[in-house]
Amino acid sequence: MRDLFERIVEDKGPLGKWAKQAEGYFVFPKLEGPISNRMTFNGKKVITWSINDYLGLANHPEVLKVDGESAAAYGMAYPMGARMMSGHTEFHEQLENECAEFVDKEAAYLVNFGYQGMVSAIDALVTKNDVIVYDMDTHACIIDGVRLHAGKRFVYKHNDIESFEKNLKRATKMAEANNGGILVISEGVFGMRGEQGRLSEIVALKEKYNFRLLVDDAHGFGTLGKEGRGTGFEQGVQDEIDVYFATFAKSMAGIGAFFAGNKDVIQYLQYNMRSQMFAKSLPMPMVKGALKRLDMLRTMPELKEKLWTITNALQNGLKDAGFDTGTTQTCITPVFLKGEVPEAMALVHDLRENHGVFCSIVVYPVIPKGLMILRLIPTASHTLEDVNETIEAFSSIRSKLEKGIYKRIGATMI
Ligand SMILES: Cc1ncc(COP(=O)(O)O)c(C=O)c1O
Repeated sequence: MRDLFERIVEDKGPLGKWAKQAEGYFVFPKLEGPISNRMTFNGKKVITWSINDYLGLANHPEVLKVDGESAAAYGMAYPMGARMMSGHTEFHEQLENECAEFVDKEAAYLVNFGYQGMVSAIDALVTKNDVIVYDMDTHACIIDGVRLHAGKRFVYKHNDIESFEKNLKRATKMAEANNGGILVISEGVFGMRGEQGRLSEIVALKEKYNFRLLVDDAHGFGTLGKEGRGTGFEQGVQDEIDVYFATFAKSMAGIGAFFAGNKDVIQYLQYNMRSQMFAKSLPMPMVKGALKRLDMLRTMPELKEKLWTITNALQNGLKDAGFDTGTTQTCITPVFLKGEVPEAMALVHDLRENHGVFCSIVVYPVIPKGLMILRLIPTASHTLEDVNETIEAFSSIRSKLEKGIYKRIGATMI
């Protein structure tokens, strides 16, 4: 037998093994100063394209005012205890009612973190007799929720309706044999490459098969559909989404999340979701702050318009400059380039240090070897100047990449 920590020290995990080379720069970087289009990194101002503050609410003076006033009035602790026990208030209820109304559902239930809430909701919604059918490219919170499932699960090829139907057929046989039901899970917007989930084609199959649909709309909420009501509205299928999920951590620039659906399903979640039954409820400043942000989504359409002006300028500008932005149908803007991991490191270093552009980079093993994605998140606080500077910087780094300059520098970085 060996000591548990011996292994941990030897094998730091797929990302941890890069800690020495990457920490503080490529991972755990410190972006400092007020959240905005330009922040400070390593002592220099950089155009920041890696923050999901889509509507620019994080530092909006009205938001800061409400956040500050609520923290002063209630502190960060109130209310204490789990919702079911002593952590319930009229404002939690008000926020749930307003979220439900905004996404056109009968009821809603707050969770403290989207990730934990999703894991727990999936766990609560299915028993071992039920079958889950889910998209291959879904977020870790869905994958981890599915891991808890004691029954059968089928994964379909990303956004592939043929593969979806094939798996739905299999799931139907299995569910019939067990006298169970089927839960289908998709994202409204896939966060890595920015495609919308093919929700209208998924729900069209409800005529042929019996299933319930859960949609994680973390990136669609606030950015798509009328008043930012989400991907279901964008595609005209909100009624057919049985359980709708959105987080406050992106467009709402806060923390917390909610599930919305009919009264029965939401009441079931209230009484069966372990992440909320056995954890303290959301503190009041988060709740009051979310009420304020939701009100701004409803009443300030100019924020979403600005977001889309920047998004269109960025995506069209990149395409005009010959960049491959994949199949995005949303604000998420991936730029696909060819290169190995060390080249990617050298390229990002150059982009940050010499061009003042900060964006996320995705490399192997998240995507196939030899490919890198520079992932840009436009927001309402960006300017057209930011867009133009960034496209110029991208053109410059592409030419160095093609000349093999980063290959040489990258080799010295690892
Ligand atoms: C698709 C998706 N679902 C869920 C989450 C988790 O949300 P939260 O940050 O509220 O835990 C995220 C955040 O990264 C996400 O992108």
